[in-house]
Amino acid sequence: MKNKVTKIGVLTSGGDSPGMNACVRAVVRTGLYNNIEMFGIMRGYTGMVEDDIVKLESRSVANIIQRGGTVLKTSRSKEFLTPEGRKKAYGNLKKHGINGLVIIGGDGSFRGAQIFSSEFDIPCIGLPGTIDKDIAGTDFTIGFDTAVNTAVEAIDKIRDTAEAHDRLFIIEVMGRDAGYIALHSGIATGAENILIPEKKTDIENIIGQLAEKERRHKLVNLIVVAEGEEFGGADEVAKYIKGRLPLLEVRVCILGHIQRGGAPSCMDRLLASRMGYHAIECLIDGRHNVFVGVVNNKINYIPLDEAIKKKQKVSEEWLKIVKILAT
Ligand code: F6P
Repeated sequence: MKNKVTKIGVLTSGGDSPGMNACVRAVVRTGLYNNIEMFGIMRGYTGMVEDDIVKLESRSVANIIQRGGTVLKTSRSKEFLTPEGRKKAYGNLKKHGINGLVIIGGDGSFRGAQIFSSEFDIPCIGLPGTIDKDIAGTDFTIGFDTAVNTAVEAIDKIRDTAEAHDRLFIIEVMGRDAGYIALHSGIATGAENILIPEKKTDIENIIGQLAEKERRHKLVNLIVVAEGEEFGGADEVAKYIKGRLPLLEVRVCILGHIQRGGAPSCMDRLLASRMGYHAIECLIDGRHNVFVGVVNNKINYIPLDEAIKKKQKVSEEWLKIVKILAT
């Protein structure tokens, strides 16, 4: 069923991720190409509630494809979580005549979109913009590739100094409840151990490996820990290891928000451009309340209510590869 969509609002919500700007650009330019009026909703759902909405032209999104962060700014809106907040947001969209929404964000943002689209007659399309890659139904999320490359660059540097001093380094990466940044950056840097929330941490096994290395005077070791790992992150792991092996020189490095910034990689720019284009196509084709993913390099549409129920699983193949290559 074709639906006449004439005015579309686009917003970025939740934690920013590199490539969000490239995505906004693609959404805006594809909309304009189809003679649709385009609006930027500032600061995520906050701008919807507070009527911070601006008209966008092609030149409004010039020279942003290469920039990290988001020109639309972002937030995690508390007011939008309430029925009153969403009603206000709807009123503001109606005031501008907006009859389609594109939401670029993570699973929390999709949850907001799902509730909003079930309460009001404004079709919503989600685009997965998060460094965490924790959304089922897409092989990649916008920003993940850049964040992993940032982590890899940092961990390579840490290995240099670890080698120089014969030290054990415990490096914490982001990912909220998901271990993908840790898994990918750990494999790519040859980390000796990778600790992720999706797999139970066998700390005694790690202690055994370290004790054996200590005995052989092979002390360089990198442990990459996902922030959501069950042991409590890098500081807790370090404390435990120090308690058990007091002679080891242990250092902790928490990479933090550096992983969220910087120029998006080529892969993220391409993904963002492709997904942004398809979001507008969805609204024009009347394919509503879905998010756009990419699976096996093909565009995939997942209903928003399904998306918020599932988490992306870590593949057994990668876990096996980690085990074999880190020995
Ligand atoms: O979801 C993206 C993310 O960077 C997570 O990896 C991290 O746990 C969280 O956001 C940090 O949030 P904040 O920027 O609010 O500290």
